[in-house]
Amino acid sequence: MLDTFTKATPEALAAIREEMAVRRTTEVHLYFPMGSQTDHLIYLAYAKLGVYCLVANPTTVTAEDVRTLGPIGITLSGGPASVHAEPPVFDNRIFDLGIPIFGICLGFQMWAAHRGLTVRKGITRELGVHKLWIRHAEDLFRGFEAHIITPVLQNHEDEVLFDDRIRLDATTVSTGRQAAMVSAASLGHLHGVQFHPEQTDTERGMQMFENFHFGICGAKDRFPAEAEAECKIIRLRKQTAGDTRVLCLLSGGSDSSTVAHLLREAGLDRTRLRGIYIKGVDRPDDEAFVREHFGNQDWIEVIYVDATDRLLEALAGKKTMQGKRATGFRPIYEAIGGEEAERFSEGGKYEVLIAQGTLYTDLSESGVGQGGARKAVIKVHHNTRNEFRSARTGRLFTELMPLADCVKDSGRDIGRSIGVPEVLLTRHPFPGPGLILRIEGEVTREKLLMARQLDDIYIEELRCAGLYYSVWQAGIVITQSEHTMIQGDDAGVGPLIVCWAVWSVNGFTARAAHLPPEFFERLEQRIGNEVHGAGPMAYRYTSKPGATIEWG
Ligand code: XMP
Repeated sequence: MLDTFTKATPEALAAIREEMAVRRTTEVHLYFPMGSQTDHLIYLAYAKLGVYCLVANPTTVTAEDVRTLGPIGITLSGGPASVHAEPPVFDNRIFDLGIPIFGICLGFQMWAAHRGLTVRKGITRELGVHKLWIRHAEDLFRGFEAHIITPVLQNHEDEVLFDDRIRLDATTVSTGRQAAMVSAASLGHLHGVQFHPEQTDTERGMQMFENFHFGICGAKDRFPAEAEAECKIIRLRKQTAGDTRVLCLLSGGSDSSTVAHLLREAGLDRTRLRGIYIKGVDRPDDEAFVREHFGNQDWIEVIYVDATDRLLEALAGKKTMQGKRATGFRPIYEAIGGEEAERFSEGGKYEVLIAQGTLYTDLSESGVGQGGARKAVIKVHHNTRNEFRSARTGRLFTELMPLADCVKDSGRDIGRSIGVPEVLLTRHPFPGPGLILRIEGEVTREKLLMARQLDDIYIEELRCAGLYYSVWQAGIVITQSEHTMIQGDDAGVGPLIVCWAVWSVNGFTARAAHLPPEFFERLEQRIGNEVHGAGPMAYRYTSKPGATIEWG
């Protein structure tokens, strides 16, 4: 099975045929991710529709490769490039093959520029949710009522200018006065939208993917979404064949728990599957979840490594979030992985793989994309680009990332389909570097203790108020902003404590959650009463994009 289509070699075509046989289809949809942060959501949208969507590298695949493969349709995502200022590497002859094309944002601008339409830097930008006015309820908009208004997420600076060679399918209400800006258009087999149908904020985006693949491209086959887990299990079985062992990094959250269960389904047992939980900068109840759900199982053995001292030593003197991530947490995390894998290999007698619950969101923000398009690095997540090496023998251990093509909600769906306990799947997401990202400036033992107390209270209060499941994620941060306090009859100072909570579906975008004033009143009182040294409290009201979900 092929991860990325780079050339139409006999080996690649054979791997594609194998995947088609598993999916019982002769239809393949070729997808060129052009480097947008959310490009993978397009892949997932097709996966949800049961489409065999093959990721293609835009920098290596030529028109000849595409013709040889013969896809039923082609989709191009958005990306950071600009067709007039920094044209992306792509064989534009692909637009002339006559295969239906769906260009999204940059992908739309690419075919428009290739066909001689004007693409220029816009006078204004369109960022955030806008209202789309449907002019032609056909093709991509089949099933939409003509002239309705529907919300779409926009995120662009460049624009395609209207030209009477194209059919104008939709415009946004905000740009109606600048009639030149095109939000959706078609030109023969070429279709394009300027907004992002893959984003959940675009309410009817899924219908557009459905319309393109099954309507415009005329596809027939659907592979049921539940079968995705089965594909992963088949692949894991191959990867762990023989007496290969797996060390699975467990955090007590949904992703690593799902990975452990997938390995179980792939046939590993206690002799070949070892879980490892690293203590030190974890939140108050993470370890308890691991102990309860994995501690006493007959299919996995779990070891607990207390790395508090090593982590504090590595973090000493490091004040920026990037520094704490890159040279504080990461080296210790990788060293422990390498040491424990070495131990599990019994002196090299067994091959050991290291499994992590890394999601596509983590990879994408860390600058790792599908295909070969340039991708911005937002922040380097702890579970990406790792090197797990034994310091003693120098042995390098290979990683397994079975959820690397999932985002939070699709990973949860996989877990659900193989019976991972719901209580693990529905826990709020949290980052591997744990409380480090919830402490501004240097991490000390005292601040760790305070961050743990704060997290405990915040999450408990969300649960008590019945709000835990109505927000997607929540965190509380000790800032470096010192505030004057009155404590009893005395003066004092304390750091500003900032809590945040977001609504999201997959972590790629998020909106600040609305929490009731009574909730904050109670939280503020509890923090004041119970957390010695804490300063006043504030709520961060920011969305992503704009900010990211975590503090750093
Ligand atoms: P951001 O803050 O980048 O986070 O908007 C998106 C999601 O990823 C989590 N996150 C991480 N998860 N390792 C992880 O496993 C990391 O280094 C990391 N950084 C952020 C974050 O909590 C949110 O759910």
